[in-house]
Amino acid sequence: MALVRVSEILKLADKANTSAIGFNCNDYTMAYSVVAVAEELNKPAIVMLYPPDDFESNCCGLKAFSATVHELAEKVRVPIGLHLDHCTDFDYILRAVQAGFTSVMFDGSMLPVEENIKLTKRVVDAAHALGADVEAELGHVGFAANQDQDDKDMYTKPEVAAAFCEQTGVDSVAVAIGSAHGVYLTTPKLDLTRLDAINAATDTPLVLHGGSGIPHDQLEEAFKRGINKFNVGTEYFRLYYDSFREYAAEFGDKGNMQKVPAYIQERMKAYLRNKMQLSKF
Ligand code: 13P
Repeated sequence: MALVRVSEILKLADKANTSAIGFNCNDYTMAYSVVAVAEELNKPAIVMLYPPDDFESNCCGLKAFSATVHELAEKVRVPIGLHLDHCTDFDYILRAVQAGFTSVMFDGSMLPVEENIKLTKRVVDAAHALGADVEAELGHVGFAANQDQDDKDMYTKPEVAAAFCEQTGVDSVAVAIGSAHGVYLTTPKLDLTRLDAINAATDTPLVLHGGSGIPHDQLEEAFKRGINKFNVGTEYFRLYYDSFREYAAEFGDKGNMQKVPAYIQERMKAYLRNKMQLSKF
């Protein structure tokens, strides 16, 4: 089917009392594996692009990436969304929407709340006019390397969440409840009581970032208690890299570049099957 809006996927997730999973991808193999496993398991999924500074030279441009995911989505029966992850650049966000991204994230989480509201609303107005959804972030999901997941000053304040969602008109909001991006040095512990309070304060779908390394039992609980979108990046990228290394170690000089994608996709798919089982659609 044609690519769908991420808000449609989040509605389905809310109805099923679960979460859709968004995977950071930056090329065909990563996106293909997500879409193939979503189809195999009959679950919606979201392909997310994390915009690196040198994206154009790193892999492919916004239009090419968008066209790739559109084409992949058209070949399957399950709903697939395309999302631009963490972005602070208004013009880049508009370019992504014009290139066919159905959803974008404006990350104003480092700004004072009033400024975050103002800039998020500007993005919402522009993206909605062009038919795309917007995810924002309230509180700040920092870096696991700094143990930011334990810094309660960064957590989302339930009492601010309702006004933030109402004043910005966002389609989803990322919340800081004890997760962080990257590799955790100690096992994170999600603040589910805070999640309950945020979920009670707003009907806007809630997003959990920093998904790599959060124990599955905590994720299952968070999905039941209001998380409708869950982001994974580090684990998936690491697996991609490790799969290349495995191929090189196994085949050495006899390796064949033509066979590398299938070898890697097989490993990526095994990981994705395990992760996507958490999505109880
Ligand atoms: P991880 O890289 O920690 O899995 O987080 C991904 C993420 O939240 C992307 O927005």
